[in-house]
Amino acid sequence: MDIDYKALAKKYGTPLYMYDFDYIEHRYNDLKEAFAGKKSLINYAVKANSNLSVIAHLAKLGAGADCVSIGEVRRALDAGVKKYNIIFSGVGKRDDEIREALEKDILMLNLESEAEMKRVEMIAKELGKEARISIRVNPNIDPQTHPYISTGLHENKFGVEIDMAKRMYIYANKSEYLNPVGIHFHIGSQLTKLDPIRESAQIVADLVRSLKAIKIDIKFFDVGGGIGVVYSDEITIPVRDYAEAIFDATKGLDVTLLCEPGRYMVANAGAFFTSVLYEKVNAGKRFVIVDGGMNDLIRPSLYDAYHKIDAVMVEGEKSFADVVGPVCESGDFFGKNVLLPPLQHNDLLVVHSAGAYGFTMASNYNTRPKPAEVALEAGKDRLIRRRESYEDQIRLEKEFLHRDQ
Ligand code: LLP
Repeated sequence: MDIDYKALAKKYGTPLYMYDFDYIEHRYNDLKEAFAGKKSLINYAVKANSNLSVIAHLAKLGAGADCVSIGEVRRALDAGVKKYNIIFSGVGKRDDEIREALEKDILMLNLESEAEMKRVEMIAKELGKEARISIRVNPNIDPQTHPYISTGLHENKFGVEIDMAKRMYIYANKSEYLNPVGIHFHIGSQLTKLDPIRESAQIVADLVRSLKAIKIDIKFFDVGGGIGVVYSDEITIPVRDYAEAIFDATKGLDVTLLCEPGRYMVANAGAFFTSVLYEKVNAGKRFVIVDGGMNDLIRPSLYDAYHKIDAVMVEGEKSFADVVGPVCESGDFFGKNVLLPPLQHNDLLVVHSAGAYGFTMASNYNTRPKPAEVALEAGKDRLIRRRESYEDQIRLEKEFLHRDQ
């Protein structure tokens, strides 16, 4: 689609997030088709982009939600995801979160430790309910991705070992208040190799078979998220191959296949717009200073992540520059050694692939307002979150000011 970036930036101001809803739909359909012919559910990982309108868009297409806090569960419900399509994961759920999830009667709670299982059992008993659960198995497979987003090795905090998982299933199966309906693994994010996923799926499917042999029937086989996307020149996993690998691993099992893609759905649907404030040269090094900062998009600072950056409709001889924000940290940059033409005040830069883990990781550091978000659908643009004001930011503090006097 031809997007008039300049017009959008003018209409809504910068810094700004823009998401192409048609692209999200096309990604959802591709993945759904890859799973065609099998019972499957795509549980969009809300953490990647939790704007209500984004979740609602996916819910309309039939997606469920993978949530990691009760706040995300509430967002999913508010956005119209059906309660039976919501799962709640995460290593550290609080009692109140567990209680609310059980009261809301979502599909299942995904458990990550024995201690958590006992807690869920206790709370379910208090409520007189049976908790549907799944267990996150740590298959001890190296996903071959960035260490910060790799989760499937025993050295990571996520999930439980196979033997422990088995003991937990046996316990849960006997409990009056627990119903073990699912099994789960998630070995990392931005995965570009299929083998680690295939191997993990096989290990976990074998566990399902051994549970079946002792009359514990697992209904939901959840392969987590993690499908990688193209930021620069990555070769990604074709979703048909991905689905095939999972079909192979689960052969003979009567299960509903669940997957939890976040980045795959939204990363390349999104762009971040930021305007040039100044150019400067320090000891021969060129800097382009823009109005967006690490508080808006932290991936380059946090993971040294690459995001392609383009100047919109500016001509001229290109040279290398660091694109940096106004935040008082040396780590506040969007790109290093980016080839850019000479830039003037108010020229527009587009930071690509910013739809996943962009806005959701934004903060108010330096008392900077969170940016606005805009959706583009069928050639039309609409605001889906207004820009924060200073008043929004101080709202929770203001009433306490000068209370000491
Ligand atoms: N399921 C579970 C249990 C997860 O922990 C995650 C992501 C997902 C699904 C979705 O993964 P995806 O399909 O988006 O790869 N902030 C980092 C990514 C952290 C991912 C955390 N877990 C980044 O900006 O790269």
